[in-house]
Amino acid sequence: MSDMVVVLGALAVAAVRLWAWRRWHPVSFWYGVEFPTRAVSVYLTWHHVSSGCRLTRKRQRFRLTLDAVPVVGAASRSTATVVQKRRVRRVDVERAPRLGLLRPTRLGWRVRLRLHDGQVPEDYEKAAEGIAHAWRVHSVRVVDVQPGFVTLWATLRDPLVDVVTEPETGELLRVRPGRLENGHDWVIDFRVMPHWLNAGATQSGKSNLANALIKGLAPQPVALVGFDLKGGVEFTPYAPRLSALATTRKESVDLLSDLVGEVENRMALCRENGARNVWTLPEALRRIPVVVLVDEVAELFLMADKSEKDEVARTATALLRLAQLGRAFAVYLVVCGQRIGSDLGPGVTALRAQLSGRVCHRVNDPETANMTLGDLDPAALDVARAIPAETPGVCVVAGQDGSWQRARSVYVPESAAEQAARDYAHLTPDWDTLINSVPTVRPAA
Ligand SMILES: Nc1ncnc2c1ncn2[C@@H]1O[C@H](COP(=O)(O)OP(=O)(O)O)[C@@H](O)[C@H]1O
Ligand SMILES: [Mg+2]
Repeated sequence: MSDMVVVLGALAVAAVRLWAWRRWHPVSFWYGVEFPTRAVSVYLTWHHVSSGCRLTRKRQRFRLTLDAVPVVGAASRSTATVVQKRRVRRVDVERAPRLGLLRPTRLGWRVRLRLHDGQVPEDYEKAAEGIAHAWRVHSVRVVDVQPGFVTLWATLRDPLVDVVTEPETGELLRVRPGRLENGHDWVIDFRVMPHWLNAGATQSGKSNLANALIKGLAPQPVALVGFDLKGGVEFTPYAPRLSALATTRKESVDLLSDLVGEVENRMALCRENGARNVWTLPEALRRIPVVVLVDEVAELFLMADKSEKDEVARTATALLRLAQLGRAFAVYLVVCGQRIGSDLGPGVTALRAQLSGRVCHRVNDPETANMTLGDLDPAALDVARAIPAETPGVCVVAGQDGSWQRARSVYVPESAAEQAARDYAHLTPDWDTLINSVPTVRPAA
């Protein structure tokens, strides 16, 4: 009896210790206890799980079997004698795809799988949800496809529920507006990916992302320019940090022509200095980067009546020109919108093709997701369509190389972005000075 008490007591102490370990040192608990336990269970159940998800293949194998064989010439049927004989037979066996080494990540694990002949990565994408349920994890995603192999990436819980980011590092033109699903910071680096399309339904988090960008860029030596044709209600509060803001069609036509003029100046400056882009200009000649934020792009393209046709056409041409030349001459675009389809006008599709960074928030119609992410992996579309309304700010972020991730912007209320705009108002370059400063071109040798 007393032995029993000692054993129960020891078990209770061990349980409390494990609980306390998990509670106060979740990271070491994950790597030291939880991950190894999960890994053992994944390997032990893999055959069963892959069979349930129809990923196994039947193979014929030779097997030694023990068969019951009636003895020929036995006295009568009723007393037929049977003997056991060993025989080599061909039998069907189910083979699971071969599982590589499970590698722990901060929020789950990654594991490489060898495809059976005839299997394609899409078979695993279809099975991913079933595997996630079997493994009791938040999601399983197919990543890193190589000939004959895929990598499954399992995440234990949704890392996008509470999003906080590390403080900004202040690197020029780099902003960390939120978190990626893999637990890393989401980084928008305009020098790597110059133009962005930020799409989503109303209340999906588009403006929040714009706020996060304004807050992140405000302390940097960059000029911010806004287009807000919904009466200026979105961007006017940030005016102290904006070098220029257009709130009517007339203003936007003028501002766009300023911007195109500035890009052309920069182009001439680079040409005369034998530089391919502003970054290779001598330090003294370098021009300040300009980030252009467009709140609702449809407003720029919609015509109230025929008289605006000409202005809309000029707007479309100017935006496209900015997008085409901006990368080399440090003028970057962030274009937000609910819908960015060809119904807005012929220039829109060409513009969209230039905006290689894509952010797709929750959308109401599959068409918008298609327009934003359509040229990418179909799995990205499914994920974008599944974003629920309860989690504004969650989005699918995609880059030029076709890779994509779920992400969520950190919550930046208007007041925080306004505060940043006021705090760094002294850094705002004056627009007229910026566009009229004649570049000091070196005398030709
Ligand atoms: N990343 C986020 N985290 C938490 N709440 C958010 C986030 N993004 C947006 N929200 C909430 O959703 C609301 C709508 O977001 P908003 O950016 O204004 O949407 P949109 O501009 O697409 O209409 C915001 O007022 C805010 O309360
Ligand atoms: Mg908005």
